[in-house]
Amino acid sequence: MKTTIIERDFGKVEADVLVIGVPTHPENTVGWDEFVNVFSARLPEWLKSGDISTDFKKIVKMPAIEASGYKRVLFVGLGTQKKLNEDLLRQAFAAVGKELAAGKAASAAVWTAPFTNDNLSCEDVVFAATEGIGLGMYKFEGYRTDSNERDVTLGTLTFLSSADEDELRAAFEVGKVYAHAVNEARNLVNMPPNLLTATKMADYARELAGKYDFDIEVLGKKEMEELGMGAILAVNKGSVEEPKLIVLKYAATEQWEDVIGLVGKGVTYDTGGYSLKPKDGMVGMKGDMGGAAAVLGAMSIIGELRPAKNVIAVIGATDNMVSGEAFKPDDVITSLSGKTIEVLNTDAEGRLVLADAVTYAKQSGADYLIDVATLTGGVIIALGNDKTGALTNDEAFFEEFMQASLETGEFVWRLPLTENDKKRIRKSDVADLNNSPGRDGHMIFGGGFVGEFAGDTPWIHLDIAGTSDAAAAHDLGPKGATGVMTRTLATVVERLADANIED
Ligand code: BES
Ligand code: ZN
Ligand code: ZN
Repeated sequence: MKTTIIERDFGKVEADVLVIGVPTHPENTVGWDEFVNVFSARLPEWLKSGDISTDFKKIVKMPAIEASGYKRVLFVGLGTQKKLNEDLLRQAFAAVGKELAAGKAASAAVWTAPFTNDNLSCEDVVFAATEGIGLGMYKFEGYRTDSNERDVTLGTLTFLSSADEDELRAAFEVGKVYAHAVNEARNLVNMPPNLLTATKMADYARELAGKYDFDIEVLGKKEMEELGMGAILAVNKGSVEEPKLIVLKYAATEQWEDVIGLVGKGVTYDTGGYSLKPKDGMVGMKGDMGGAAAVLGAMSIIGELRPAKNVIAVIGATDNMVSGEAFKPDDVITSLSGKTIEVLNTDAEGRLVLADAVTYAKQSGADYLIDVATLTGGVIIALGNDKTGALTNDEAFFEEFMQASLETGEFVWRLPLTENDKKRIRKSDVADLNNSPGRDGHMIFGGGFVGEFAGDTPWIHLDIAGTSDAAAAHDLGPKGATGVMTRTLATVVERLADANIED
C-alpha cells in the first residue's frame, strides 16, 4: 500500500473494490443514512433479506452494478457493534485483505462507519482496518519460477470518512507501518536457511540501521572470542557459517539511560546438533530465528515511529549443526557472564545463545529486558499453538507488557518460575548451570535458564515456539510465519515512551 486518500465526497471515489463494513445494526451508526444515500438506497433491503450478512468476518461479494466507479463490492460482517474492538476489527479486515489479494485488487475504498462505542474512535477503526488488511494480504513470494505472485500489490487504499483528516491519515500510517513490519518479520522466518544465514541477517540489520539511523555493531567469531562469549560460540562450533551478534541501538534521548533491551534468538537452523532431532522434527527449523525476526520487525516500527524511549536490540545469530568440530553433550562452556554451563543437550541451544545475548544487552546498558525465542517444544505441550508462553521476574513490568499484548491481540500466558525450578537449573556436578534439567515442564527450564543471566534486571521471557509458525491459515494471515510479537514488542516500547512523557 503506497498511498491513501481520506475522501469526504463518497460519490467521487474510484477503486477496484469498495469494502463496506456492516455491524448488526448499521442503521444505528452515525453516517449510515448518508452512506446509503450515496451508495444505494437498496442497502437496507439487502440487509433485511439477509443477502448481506452482518455475521462477524462473513464476507459477501457482489459485482458493482449501481455503484459506479467500483468493479466489485465486498461486504464484511462486523457482528455486534457494542462488542467491536480493535482486535475484532483487525481480524475482520484481515479477512478483507485475503479477499483483496485473491482478487488481485490494485485499489480499494473502505467505508467504515464512525463507530461510537466506548472501545473505538474513528482513528482506531482506520488503524485496525489498515493493519488488518495489510496483514491479511500477506503472501510469501517464494522461489517458484512460474510464480505470478509478484504482481499482487494494493496500490491505493482510500477511507471514506468525514472525520478529522489529519488524525485519520496518522492512524493509517501507523497501521501500515505495523503491518509492513510484521510482514517483513514473516519474510525472514519463511526464508530458507541456506539463504538466510547469520551473515545475511546481519546485512538485513545493517539496512535497517541505515534506513533509520540506528547505531549498529555486528560481532563476528573473532570479536566473540575476544570477549569470551563461550555460549553462543559453542553452538556455532559445528558450523561453517560465521556466528553474528547483531546489536542495534535506537537513542531517543541524549543520555543513554532508561534503556529497554529486546533480545532475540536467531538460530537460522536447528538440527539439534549431536542431540540430533528426528528427521520429521527437523523440518521447519528454519523458523528457529522467529525471535530475532520479531525483534527486527519491532525495530523497524520503532525506527518509523520514533518513540521517546531508548532501545537496544541484541540478536544472537548462528545455526546449530553437526560436524567433527561441533559441541557435545558433557562439554562444559564458559559464558560471557563468567558463569559456567554443563551441556547436557545440544538441542537446548537457544538458551545458550540467549545467555550471551542477554549478558551483552545488560553490559550495554539495558535496564529492562525482553527476550523472544522459539525456545521449547514444551510451550506447545503446555499452551498449544496459539498462545505465547511467558516468564518474568518483575510484576509491574509484566503488567505493562500485558497491556500491550491486550492492545495487539497477541495472546500471552505466564507460567511460574519457582525456586525449585531454579535449583534444578543450577544443579550440576561440574558447572554453575546445566542446560537441560529435564522434560517435565521444560518450557520453564528453558526460560528460567535465560533468567539466570538477566539476574535482578526486570525481565520478561517470551517463548514463541508454538506461535511463530502457523500450520494452517489463521485469522491474520496464511500458513507459515506469523511474525508474532513484532507488534507487541513495538507497542510495549511505545507505551513505555508515553509513560516517560507523562512523568
Ligand atoms: N528450536 C527448538 C524448539 C522448537 C520446537 C521450536 C518446536 C519450534 C518448534 C529448541 O531449540 C529445542 O530443540 N528445544 C528442545 C529443548 C530440550 C532439548 C530441552 C525441546 O523443546 O525439545
Ligand atoms: Zn534445539
Ligand atoms: Zn532451537
